[in-house]
Amino acid sequence: MDELPWKRHYDPRPVSTLMTPALLIDLKKLKRNCTIMRERCRLLGISLRPHMKTAKTWEAGFYMTNGTRKQIVVSTFAEATFFADGGFDDVIYAVPITLSKMNRVRELTARLESFQFMTDSMEVLNGITKIPPPVGKHWSMLVQLDVGYGRCGVKPSSSLALEIVREMASCDFIDFVGLYTHCGQSYACTGAIAHVTVASHARDESVKLAKQLEAEGISCRCVGIGSTPGCSHNPSDMTGITEYHPGNYVFYDMQQAGLGSCSESDISICVLTTVISHNQETGQLMIDCGWMGTSMQCGDEPIGYGHFVGEPSLRIAGFSQEVARVVSTQGHLNFSKYPIGCTLRLLPYHSCATSAMHPVHYVCDDDTVIDEWVPVKGW
Ligand SMILES: Cc1ncc(COP(=O)(O)O)c(C=O)c1O
Repeated sequence: MDELPWKRHYDPRPVSTLMTPALLIDLKKLKRNCTIMRERCRLLGISLRPHMKTAKTWEAGFYMTNGTRKQIVVSTFAEATFFADGGFDDVIYAVPITLSKMNRVRELTARLESFQFMTDSMEVLNGITKIPPPVGKHWSMLVQLDVGYGRCGVKPSSSLALEIVREMASCDFIDFVGLYTHCGQSYACTGAIAHVTVASHARDESVKLAKQLEAEGISCRCVGIGSTPGCSHNPSDMTGITEYHPGNYVFYDMQQAGLGSCSESDISICVLTTVISHNQETGQLMIDCGWMGTSMQCGDEPIGYGHFVGEPSLRIAGFSQEVARVVSTQGHLNFSKYPIGCTLRLLPYHSCATSAMHPVHYVCDDDTVIDEWVPVKGW
């Protein structure tokens, strides 16, 4: 499974030859994160359907699916088409659909063995029941549930959830696949016990609805839940859940380390940046990584915009588009330790946002760049 199907020749080169800012991926850590999540799912007896929104590259998707290129989640049609071009199949588009996007659903339904999409709206569903699918195909649909995040989805205990499922199940050309829950509320709590509690609640709510539907003769092939915090610590028994769909775990980040999903040493990406100016008067350094190199996403102190590897006292104090100001939490910044031209490595606050800022991901084995992966952009 180690051999990428798109292997091409790449002349390895030292990280020090890269133009900065550059996004580096530690391949050993990425593979380890993939193996651990896969093994966790295997022990729980559920499928891993990783989300591609974090890495957005064929190569990361290949490792996340253990080389099968089957069973993925996407959040844009650009991702869906890109991964289909890379030979991936069995794709869930996990954003509520609108009728205006049904032309893209049609293309992908015709093209792939399985393309699934979802709604939490009876109005949208009523519209879909009037649009015939491509010849020889069904629309494959899930119902999006809200078990506490409050972003989108129907409450599993609501009559609306039952009504939507019944409507899907009774439509001749809709294949009702099952239930999908994200569990984004796991980001509002810290530590293994809290994440297990969120996952247990999501499991109980989703499985209860699935059983109720079974009793009516409507079977749910998929009962999926997942977020990286919820899937990094989970209840030992996930009976009734068929799949997990985390995405961030492929990289992890300082936010996840702060939430207790991982440790700092598990984070497989960083941004390489160069010190470009010293301001003795303000006691600040300038680096060549602005918000365009890492995004504006930021947590509470002490994490802030992220951590500089091996430099616990350095903090980003503010961004411009292409540069940032760096201060020392100890007050006095020792400029001689960071001469102009030296490089720093920033572990980002939110790796999904940071990696999306970069046109190329430089894949590294220690200090050697061994490959370049190109992520999909846009929507
Ligand atoms: C609908 C949906 N499913 C799954 C995920 C993956 O969760 P995470 O980023 O915590 O791995 C996300 C992330 O935003 C999501 O929005």
